[in-house]
Amino acid sequence: MRIPIIAGNWKMHKTIDEAVQFVREIKDKVQGTDVEVVICAPFTLLLPLKEAAAGTNIKLGAQNMHWENQGAFTGEISPLMLKDIGIDYCIIGHSERRQYFGETDETVNKKIHSALNHGIKPIFCVGETLEERESGKTEEIVKNQIQKGLVNVTDEDVTKIVIAYEPVWAIGTGRTATPEQANEVIYQIRETIKELYGEGIYTEIRIQYGGSVKGSNAEEIMNQEDIDGALVGGASLLPDEFVQIVNF
Ligand code: G3P
Repeated sequence: MRIPIIAGNWKMHKTIDEAVQFVREIKDKVQGTDVEVVICAPFTLLLPLKEAAAGTNIKLGAQNMHWENQGAFTGEISPLMLKDIGIDYCIIGHSERRQYFGETDETVNKKIHSALNHGIKPIFCVGETLEERESGKTEEIVKNQIQKGLVNVTDEDVTKIVIAYEPVWAIGTGRTATPEQANEVIYQIRETIKELYGEGIYTEIRIQYGGSVKGSNAEEIMNQEDIDGALVGGASLLPDEFVQIVNF
């Protein structure tokens, strides 16, 4: 049985006061669920959020990390620093990191290994662009991202990873993939995991959908057979919307 996981990706939003107020508003409304609830926030918010969420079922994640423990990497954050504040998850390979900040399949793989080595669970993002979809390359592109991101990841470790399928053309556009489109690609991802790791493991991997998830479409997405959760951007910034998604 895969435990559903709803993660909010706040991207570059919220002050400390806004973040603490957000947790105050939602914490009682997300307690009764069997869904795993995660907020992936900017680095400046993680420690205040850790304190605000103490005693609740709200877990925290970062949105990126370097693969080295320390060094001359101006502006970067290491896995040791994230563990120092007790972070549970880290988004790795988000399309915005790939598009704007030079993230590659190879750096994604390094970060996945580093996160796992430090007890941080990766939320490993993959997804195709509109051009790639319209040219019929979705399965090829996503399979390649999965294969390269998981190079040398062991059977034991791969089950700790949450995969997030986020079609780039659905991110921030209000244009959500249909539940059937999302489930089709996520099924293909699960088949790729089976090819890589065999029958025993592929059913254990949790795979989220991300891309314009809202309170109004969360239930039909989450009711798809192969979808185990959502990685939510804009709608996760709004307390009522995020609570509605968590309680789909
Ligand atoms: O990581 C989740 C994010 O990329 C989705 O954004 O605003 O389309 O929900 P949004």
